[in-house]
Amino acid sequence: MLQDFLSSVQTEVKSRIKDIIGESNPIEKSMAYTSMLPSKMVRAGLVIASGEANTNIDKSSLVNMACAIEMMHSYSLIHDDLPCMDDDDIRRNSPSNHVVFGEANAVLAGDALQALAFQVIAEDEKLDDGQKIKAIKLLSSACGKNGMVYGQHLDIENENNEHTTQLDLEQIHHLKTGRLIECSILMGQISSSINLDDQKKLELFSQKIGLAFQIKDDVLDIVGNIEKLGKNKLSDIKNDKSTYVKIVGLENAIERYESLTQDALLLLRNVSYDNDEQTDKLENLANYIINRES
Ligand code: IPE
Ligand code: IPE
Ligand code: MG
Ligand code: MG
Ligand code: MG
Repeated sequence: MLQDFLSSVQTEVKSRIKDIIGESNPIEKSMAYTSMLPSKMVRAGLVIASGEANTNIDKSSLVNMACAIEMMHSYSLIHDDLPCMDDDDIRRNSPSNHVVFGEANAVLAGDALQALAFQVIAEDEKLDDGQKIKAIKLLSSACGKNGMVYGQHLDIENENNEHTTQLDLEQIHHLKTGRLIECSILMGQISSSINLDDQKKLELFSQKIGLAFQIKDDVLDIVGNIEKLGKNKLSDIKNDKSTYVKIVGLENAIERYESLTQDALLLLRNVSYDNDEQTDKLENLANYIINRES
C-alpha cells in the first residue's frame, strides 16, 4: 500500500520536475540528470502525506512544494558527492553528477536547483502570498546557514575526529538531514486547522524520523547492498566520518533508530486528525525509513 502511494508520488513529482527544469541548456541537462534518476522520493511522500487532509492547500501546490524539496535534496546530493566533500562517484545507481558533467557544472547545477526550488514556490498559482512566504521561510531556514549547509560543514569538520560525542553527532544528523525531512512535513501543514499542541507533536515526530533516517543511512553504509543502495558502501569509513555506527556501534545504532521511531509513532498517534488515512501514511513512511534497504 505504501509502495503504491510512493510510486504515484514518484511519477507525479518527477514529471513536474522534468517540466520545471527543461533541458535546453547544459546546466538544465545536468540538473535534470540527477533529479530524474530513480530515487525513493521519501521527502516528497512526506509533503503529500502530511498535507493531503489539509483543505487549505490545493493538491497542485503540494506537488509543487514536494518538487521544491526534492530539487533541494538533489542539489545537496550533487554537492555532497563532489571531490571536495565526500568524493563519491556513484549516485542513484549511475555515475555522480560531477563525473558526467565536470565539477564546475555540478556545482552550478546544484546552485540552480536550489534557486529553482524557491522559484517554483514563488510562482505557484494556488498558494496565497502569505502561504508562499511561510513555505519559503521553512525551506530557507531548513537548508541554509543554520540548517543543512551548517550540518554539512560540521560533518566535514568532524572527519578524523575521535572526540565527537553521540550528542554532537545527533546535532550534525539533525542539521544535515533531519531539517529537510522536518520541513517536508511542516510544509504540508501550512494553514492547516490542527491546533498548536498537535502541530508541536508533528514537529517532534518529524525531528525524530529525520534523525532516524540519517542513523539508518549510516548503518546502510556498512551493511547495505551496493546494487540496492545505488551508491558506494563504506564511503564513511573511506572519509573517516563521525557516524552513528562509529561512535556507538552497529547494534546500538539500530536500537537508537528503532526507539526514535517508536517515540515518533507515539506522538503521531496522539495527534487528533480528522483523517485516519493520513496518520496511516505518515506511520507507514516512518516505518519505511528505518526498514528500507536503499
Ligand atoms: C540520501 O538520501 C542522502 C541522505 C540524506 C542520507 P536518500 O536516501 O533519500 O536518497 P534518494 O533521494 O532516495 O536517492
Ligand atoms: C548526506 O549525508 C546529507 C546531505 C546530502 C545533506 P551522507 O553523505 O551520509 O549521504 P550519502 O550517504 O552520501 O547519500
Ligand atoms: Mg556527506
Ligand atoms: Mg555522502
Ligand atoms: Mg551516508
